[in-house]
Amino acid sequence: MYPTDRPRRLRTTPALRRLVSETDVRPRHLVLPVFVAEGLDAPKPISSMPGVVQHTRETLRKAAAEAAAAGLGGIMLFGVPARHDATGSGAVDPDGILNVGLREVREEVGDALPVMADTCLDEFTDHGHCGVLAPDGTVDNDATLEVYAEMAVAQADAGAHVVAPSGMMDGQVGRIRSALDAAGHTDTAILAYSAKYASAFYGPFREAVDSQLTGDRRTYQQDPANAREALRETTLDLAEGADMVMVKPAMAYLDVLRSVAELSDVPVAAYQVSGEYAMISAAAERGWIDRDRTILESITGIRRAGADIVLTYWATELATRLDR
Ligand code: PBG
Repeated sequence: MYPTDRPRRLRTTPALRRLVSETDVRPRHLVLPVFVAEGLDAPKPISSMPGVVQHTRETLRKAAAEAAAAGLGGIMLFGVPARHDATGSGAVDPDGILNVGLREVREEVGDALPVMADTCLDEFTDHGHCGVLAPDGTVDNDATLEVYAEMAVAQADAGAHVVAPSGMMDGQVGRIRSALDAAGHTDTAILAYSAKYASAFYGPFREAVDSQLTGDRRTYQQDPANAREALRETTLDLAEGADMVMVKPAMAYLDVLRSVAELSDVPVAAYQVSGEYAMISAAAERGWIDRDRTILESITGIRRAGADIVLTYWATELATRLDR
């Protein structure tokens, strides 16, 4: 008995495979996360993320111009301030490094490339938490919302097209939306980190932003064991006015990404985080995997799972190898 159903027929030539390919990765699907540091006179390599640097203001501009030329979907800025304090005051200061970076990037790219800002305090606080602390040392949800509101307005003032609250505080999307509207920034969009897990895959990022954190974020970021909770978080963010939602990290959470994509009526992003970048980079350096193929396969998988948008540190590099 020969099999009558022969799926291999459609794999016989590159042109046939191209015809039936379900998922594509284009430059417009990719967003480049970048770090801009205060007081550097040369870009500073991040050892656990080969090829990624803390930018100076000048090299940041250049990276933004390259991202625009590569046709990327966007650029996401993180700030690395020289000084930290208890309330993360550098985050709301118009002259703080992130807001300065946003202003200069916006000047460089105009409306050709969506400019996005990480709206979170962990890079700016001396304790490294994503919010301000109550006297008992816990992260004070509602006091943090007030700082996020001010921070988001400062970022929109600086020219951000999109603000991206990543601190997992309850009510952050709604609070930021009302603050933006009250300040006249009704067109500034919110990309909500809706399902953000307390993940070991953020390890290299902590070096990237000189994080001051000693404990962990498990009282606000989600338990990796929980999928249903991601749907609850997403539903709340949508009700509060999220324009886009995000799942983070990507690779260990593709099931969550699929469920969020099915639930969401707005575009869905996924963040291929620092640890995912580091793992592929390290294995490729040892010659254990084919670097370029692995990068594309990992991002194709994230797209196939349901991401409209993928944040990846390979965005610009990969875009130059893709069809527009
Ligand atoms: C918090 C934030 C983190 C990342 C992005 N935003 C770190 C954390 O929550 O500990 C991680 C990104 C990455 O690992 O690539 N502002």
